[in-house]
Amino acid sequence: MDELRTKYLDAIAAAADEAALEELRVQAVGKKGEVSLKMRELGKMTPEERQVAGPALNALKNEINSALAAKKVALADAALDARLATEWLDVTLPARNRRVGTIHPISQVTEEVTAIFADMGFAVAEGPQIETDWYNFDALNIPGHHPARAEMDTFYTHRAEGDERPPHVLRTHTSPVQIRSMEKTGAPIRIICPGRVYRADYDQTHTPMFHQVEGLALGKDISMANLKWVLEEFFSAFFGTDVKTRFRASHFPFTEPSAEVDIQCSWEGGTVKVGEGDDWLEVLGSGMVHPNVLKAGGIDPDEYQGFAFGMGIDRLAMLKYGIPDLRAFFDSDLRWLRHYGFASLDQPTLHGGLNR
Ligand code: DAH
Repeated sequence: MDELRTKYLDAIAAAADEAALEELRVQAVGKKGEVSLKMRELGKMTPEERQVAGPALNALKNEINSALAAKKVALADAALDARLATEWLDVTLPARNRRVGTIHPISQVTEEVTAIFADMGFAVAEGPQIETDWYNFDALNIPGHHPARAEMDTFYTHRAEGDERPPHVLRTHTSPVQIRSMEKTGAPIRIICPGRVYRADYDQTHTPMFHQVEGLALGKDISMANLKWVLEEFFSAFFGTDVKTRFRASHFPFTEPSAEVDIQCSWEGGTVKVGEGDDWLEVLGSGMVHPNVLKAGGIDPDEYQGFAFGMGIDRLAMLKYGIPDLRAFFDSDLRWLRHYGFASLDQPTLHGGLNR
C-alpha cells in the first residue's frame, strides 16, 4: 500500500494537464484501478486481516481522490495565470489618436448665411433638385422660346421615345422654390432657400453642381429700399465689416425692375479684400418680383409685392475664406478638407462672430 501511495501521489504531483490527471484517476481508483482491485481482495481475507486492511485501503482511496481534486484546481489556476499574463491590458496608456472630420466650407457658409437671415426674420424653405420645367422656367416668367433656357445649360432628364410629357430638369437655380413657397404659405412671406443647383458647365469658376441661396420677401409695401437695406445688412454681417453695395440696372425675366448687385472690394496685392478699396465685384441678381411670377405662385399682384434675390454660396465661401479654385470644393481631397474645413463645434452664431 505504501508503494501504491508513493507511486500515485508522485504521479499526480507531476501531472502536466487535466487529461493526464484523468488517466491517473482511472488507473488508481477507476472500476478496474489498482486500488479498486485491492479492495475486491478484502473478501478473501480473514475478518482480522480485513479489519486492518479495509480502513487503510479506504484511507488510501480518499487520499488519492483528494490529491486528484487539489491538483485539478492547481492546474486551472496555472492556466488562468498564463492567460492573464498574455492578455493583460495597460489601461493607463493614452488613447490612440483619431482623426476628426471637419465641416465643409459650403456647409459652414450656408449655416452662416442662414443665421444672418434668420436674425432678420427669414425662414428656410427647400424644394426638390429635380424639377418640372414649369417650376424651373414657366412659372418664373421664362416661356419656352426664352433665351434664358438655352443660356442656363440645363440638364434634362431622359424621356422614353414616344413619351410626350415635358421632361424634368435638374433645377438650374433656386428660384423655383419661390413658387413652391408661395403656393404653400401664400403672402406675406419672408424666406431664403439655400441648396444645390445644376448647369452643364466646367472650368475654374464653374462646376456642374453648385450652390445658391434664394431670397424672397412679400408684403403689402415692401420696396427696393428694403432690398438694399437687407442686402447691405447681410454683407456687413457676413464679411464682418461695413460693405458698400452698388445696384446696376439689369434684366431678369422674374423681376421688374431688376438689379445686379456689386460689393465694394480691393484687389491690392493680387488678393481680393471685401469692404475696402474702390473696385466692385458682382455677387448677386435681384429685383422686385414680376407680377406674372406672383400670379404663378397664386398671389394677387394688386395686393402684394416684394423683392427677390439669388446668389452663389460657393462664391461667397471663396471670397470670405480665400479659396482660389471652385473645383476644389468638390474634389473630396482630404488634405484640402482638413485645411479649409471647420471644427464641428464651431457653430456660426451672430454673437460668436461668424468665424471672421
Ligand atoms: N435665378 C438667377 C440665377 O440663377 C438669380 C436671381 C436673379 C434670382 C434675380 C432672383 C432674382 O431671385 O431676383 O442666375
